[in-house]
Amino acid sequence: TKYSWVEKSTCIACGSCAAAAPDIFDYDDEGLAEVIYNGDSNQGAVAIPEDLHDDLQDACDGCPTDSIKIVSKQEDAVL
Ligand code: F3S
Repeated sequence: TKYSWVEKSTCIACGSCAAAAPDIFDYDDEGLAEVIYNGDSNQGAVAIPEDLHDDLQDACDGCPTDSIKIVSKQEDAVL
C-alpha cells in the first residue's frame, strides 16, 4: 500500500508530476502540486492503488526538488 503527498514548502511548481501521474496530482491556484486522488486533499490519507504505483514512482523520480513523499503506512503520512 502506498500513500503520498506533496511537500508544498519545497515544490517549485515545475509541473512535471501531474504530467506523469494525472490521476494522482493536480495543481493549486499557485501552481503548487497536491495529491487529489480520490478526494485526498494532499493529506496522504487515501491509499494509491497498485495500478497507479508506476505513475506515482515516475512522478516522484521526476520531481527536481524531491517534494513528492511516499510512505507505505497511513500513520506515517502528514494527515
Ligand atoms: Fe512540484 Fe515536484 Fe510536482 S516541484 S510541481 S511536486 S514535480
